[in-house]
Amino acid sequence: MTTERIDWISHPAGPLGGELTVPGDKSISHRAIMLAALAEGTSNIEGFLEGEDTRATARIFTDMGVRIEAPSASRRVVHGVGLHGLHAPRASLDCGNAGTGMRLLTGLLAGQAFDSTLSGDESLSKRPMRRVIEPLSAMGATIESGAGGLPPLHIRGGANLRGIDYELPVASAQVKSAILLAGLYASGETEVREAHPTRDYTERMLAAFGWPIAFEPGRARLSGGHRLRATEVVVPSDFSSAAFFLVAASIVPGSRLLLRAVGLNPRRTGLLQVLRLMGADIREHAAREQGGERVADLEVRHAPLHGIDVPVDFVPDMIDEFPALFVAASVAQGATRVSGAAELRVKESDRIAVMAQGLRRLGVAIDETPDGAAIHGGAVGGGDVDSGGDHRIAMGFAVAGLVARGAVRIADCANVATSFPGFTELANGCGFALTANAPSTT
Ligand code: S3P
Repeated sequence: MTTERIDWISHPAGPLGGELTVPGDKSISHRAIMLAALAEGTSNIEGFLEGEDTRATARIFTDMGVRIEAPSASRRVVHGVGLHGLHAPRASLDCGNAGTGMRLLTGLLAGQAFDSTLSGDESLSKRPMRRVIEPLSAMGATIESGAGGLPPLHIRGGANLRGIDYELPVASAQVKSAILLAGLYASGETEVREAHPTRDYTERMLAAFGWPIAFEPGRARLSGGHRLRATEVVVPSDFSSAAFFLVAASIVPGSRLLLRAVGLNPRRTGLLQVLRLMGADIREHAAREQGGERVADLEVRHAPLHGIDVPVDFVPDMIDEFPALFVAASVAQGATRVSGAAELRVKESDRIAVMAQGLRRLGVAIDETPDGAAIHGGAVGGGDVDSGGDHRIAMGFAVAGLVARGAVRIADCANVATSFPGFTELANGCGFALTANAPSTT
């Protein structure tokens, strides 16, 4: 989807200051479009993430006959067609870079009367889909994949889905959600159990759209045959986008930032706890409910960080935050050890390998393990790194550049638009010195 090649240079800078609002939550924006499309009536979505991933999901529903209006930036009005009102798409459905889009849609499309095909960009085409194909097949779906369980996925319509009782073998909200969405169309009860609770947005949003569902951390249960009713969705700011600014202000001396109305769902805020254990000074102000989610303004001030052993139980609650954490660990005093995070190897890139390679180029000592790393904090140097086309790694290295001894050139940053449109402007507005489209030597 992203064709233009963009490289960045992040120059040492700071202190950082000001108040900012990061864009809407990616996970919630995907789900809001999906459930609003299947609901009866017109839903309003406020705070929708105008990122490439979530726009791809909206386009897919337009391709299946759903009218979606965008009266202004970050707003969508979705004219729901009901659970059985989607039309067969004329061509394959392009999920872009979005694993969430593809995996959730696989479950949802398994329940339709028509055949469909899901495809994605180069990165998504390398991501494992067996984790959704297996449970959905056990429910009665027929899904063909490319070799090795990779996209594209061909989903046969007209299946008679049956409910399932499934224990997740990997901690994955995407797999859980795919099964629950298929469960809307299945006969009988669908139950998903998880040893490590993951984000519960699908469960919460199904309840908000009026679908009877029972859920608690580690367990969700619903049955088919109900209806979704249109509602208003207010999307909070994405904690995963705020994370880069939490780390940036923590590591740049003299900094103080206020991040407004950040979503603080406990299944997302592992990094907050880990940064505090490392010595960070992050305070929550004006905690409140917004659209059924807890939000607060986060005030972060520079504080000296020290390395820790990241508790394994925190890993699912910070699964998207490891690029940011690795940067914080690089400037912390002592070693930070991460384990139990093998899932990082199958994200938008192999985040352990790509981060380790880039940090080594900046002179950071890091030992890779199959399921994590030990990062030995100290000074960060300038140099050339490659994001591997991974949005979060690009933003992580932009943060590293703030405290590096020289400029950090970051290759392949266009995919930042998948999750955080306007990152460079927002970052420069609070004190980064980030320039785009510089020639890279990597
Ligand atoms: C997501 C779940 C996580 C996360 C991803 C978004 C979601 O993926 O990494 O960015 O919205 O459900 P996994 O389910 O693969 O852990």
